[in-house]
Amino acid sequence: MNSIGDLVIQKLIEEANIGIANAFAVRTNFPVGSAVLTYGGRYYHGCNIESVISGMGTCAERCAIDNSVANGEYCFKVILIKTNLEEPVKPCGMCLQYIAEFAQIPDQDIDILMVSSKGKIERSTIFTLLPGAFGPRDLGLDLTKFQPYKR
Ligand code: THU
Repeated sequence: MNSIGDLVIQKLIEEANIGIANAFAVRTNFPVGSAVLTYGGRYYHGCNIESVISGMGTCAERCAIDNSVANGEYCFKVILIKTNLEEPVKPCGMCLQYIAEFAQIPDQDIDILMVSSKGKIERSTIFTLLPGAFGPRDLGLDLTKFQPYKR
């Protein structure tokens, strides 16, 4: 786990709060916000987006990652997730897999911060939450194009 400055955490929480405000939690009424800090030093937020088609929605974490990827940034230092619950929640299994695949691009662990409504923070990392995940490196894929500062 790396040390993350208070200002960085504050910024990630602010971004995640935008996600909570914009969440399309039309089915569950459970808004979730997320934010990522990229290797390029940028922040992107995400929210859960639900669908009337079962299984078609997306979680806030994947939305934040997709937002970053759409802007050409594939490597993440920190991913934060925040809900309106009194205790922090962990990313779902699908999100853990998605995050782990991106961690394989620079082959570096990613800090995961889970934040409650009142700002209680739990910390972990993707390699702790999903050790040994299958990913692009297992397929021997060329990830050079997606590595920071190598494009
Ligand atoms: N959800 C997230 O966005 N992230 C999580 O880590 C947990 C669950 C969303 C998915 C769904 O829209 C709602 O929360 C209820 O599961």
